Amino acid sequence: LHQLLFKKPKEPPVVFHWFPVIGSTITYGMDPYRFFFENRAKYGDVFTFVLLGKKNTVCLDTTGNNFILNGKLRDVNAEEIYNPLCGPVFGKDVVYDCPNAKLMEQKKFVKFGLTQDALRSYVTLITAEVEDFLKRHQAFKGQKGTFDVPKVMAELTIYTASRTLQGEEVRNSFDSSFAALYHDLDGGFSPVNFMLSWAPLPHNRKRDNAHNKMIEVYSSIVEKRRSGAVKKDSHDMIWHLMECKYKDGTPVPNHEIAGIMIALLMAGQHSSSSTIAWILLRLASKPELLEELLEEQKTVLGADLPPLTQDDLSRLPLHSQTVKETLRIHAPIHSIMRKVKQPMVVDGTNYTVPAGRTLMSSPGTSAQMDRHFVNPSVWDPHRWDAGQHDYDDADNDDVEKIDYGWGVVSKGTNSPYLPFGAGRHRCIGEQFAYVQLQTILCAFVREFRVRNVGGGREVVGTDYSSLFSRPLAPAVVEWERRN
Ligand code: HEM
Repeated sequence: LHQLLFKKPKEPPVVFHWFPVIGSTITYGMDPYRFFFENRAKYGDVFTFVLLGKKNTVCLDTTGNNFILNGKLRDVNAEEIYNPLCGPVFGKDVVYDCPNAKLMEQKKFVKFGLTQDALRSYVTLITAEVEDFLKRHQAFKGQKGTFDVPKVMAELTIYTASRTLQGEEVRNSFDSSFAALYHDLDGGFSPVNFMLSWAPLPHNRKRDNAHNKMIEVYSSIVEKRRSGAVKKDSHDMIWHLMECKYKDGTPVPNHEIAGIMIALLMAGQHSSSSTIAWILLRLASKPELLEELLEEQKTVLGADLPPLTQDDLSRLPLHSQTVKETLRIHAPIHSIMRKVKQPMVVDGTNYTVPAGRTLMSSPGTSAQMDRHFVNPSVWDPHRWDAGQHDYDDADNDDVEKIDYGWGVVSKGTNSPYLPFGAGRHRCIGEQFAYVQLQTILCAFVREFRVRNVGGGREVVGTDYSSLFSRPLAPAVVEWERRN
């Protein structure tokens, strides 16, 4: 306070750049992690850079993660940054197109809908979907062949998510009309839309058309279900949202159910499909680990590999560590942003950031620092064998807690590993993502061997050109069916 009142605020150093508006847009956009690490070496954990004409202040490492992700509502705001992009895709009155208190209630609906019964049923549904997919997909005809991992995994992820969360009607229409709508809507998430989301560009027109049609599709599913024409026999999220009520007693209107379902589809799709693609690409570069995974299944579940259940997932530590380690190096969300609402002194520094500034956090950077992880660039699921670095200290009694309505999380975080974020905007899809990723992984391990074409140990680079990072495509590996 003293600094804010009596001293001229000292701003963080600005990354050197030649051109005013372009600033560091290109170097950041090509490889954000390299950009963060290089500038950290020059300027320290806190620095400002120019992105598309606007100043962004990056706060790295655990202090930076905590400062931004656990920022108070009166200090930092997410919806002003995200809504220009997400609003036209998700729709009215949901997620960032409403006050934060309403988002907290919507997150509660979804989190409470992901019950143990629901997750249990999802394991069976996902397994069936994967087995069916591996039988019918063109890429997996015969005994061996090759496939483009990111492309094929994107297809598989959307089928498994729609069969479970989205429900039967959506899953069935995916083979026809819904896939095209999804594709057009997703086009609205391109990085150019961070600036031009409102512009009458062709892909924005397609986005808006697809959005309107999708709202109609979901609304008609809800109406049909409400009319009694469809019997409730599954744990999908539409059924659950139809029964939810806001604190003031109002049920969730149809267009909001639709918007929440679209948001879940989009939030889950990119993050999960890129993660499962990375898992398979990493295994292809280290096939001995794939054999270890199969051994784990045989030892724990029995040599005849019975159908997988949800209880089995917690008994397969190497499988969950494979997911965990992949998210350490390949966190799909490399930059998390907030808008500063009033001048703030950055934790651990004497720098001040003014109102209106964009703050940028990157937990994926602390997850790759050698002060936190030995040989951080090495992908090694066994590094978690001893259970070190448990990232969610919500169960730890010594840590102060905060209840956001959708869940209790720790009030601050010292963890260098936060692939699902922290604070009020933390992910509520983590459990679902783990169920989905581990189940797909189990099914794959049982069915196939994979290795890099020619057997090398290289790994493809990362494509940062979209908002979610993913493997550079095409990334083709060899598969061979097990007998
Ligand atoms: C928020 C990561 C899967 C729904 C977040 C955030 C991260 C994240 C880092 C915080 C964003 C921020 O603070 O601005 C991931 C990863 C996933 C994953 C790595 C998979 C590997 C899912 C799935 C769903 C989902 C499957 C839906 C079922 C959400 C929602 C939020 C969120 C609703 C809250 C947004 C907010 O409060 O602003 N996720 N996510 N995520 N995620 Fe996920």
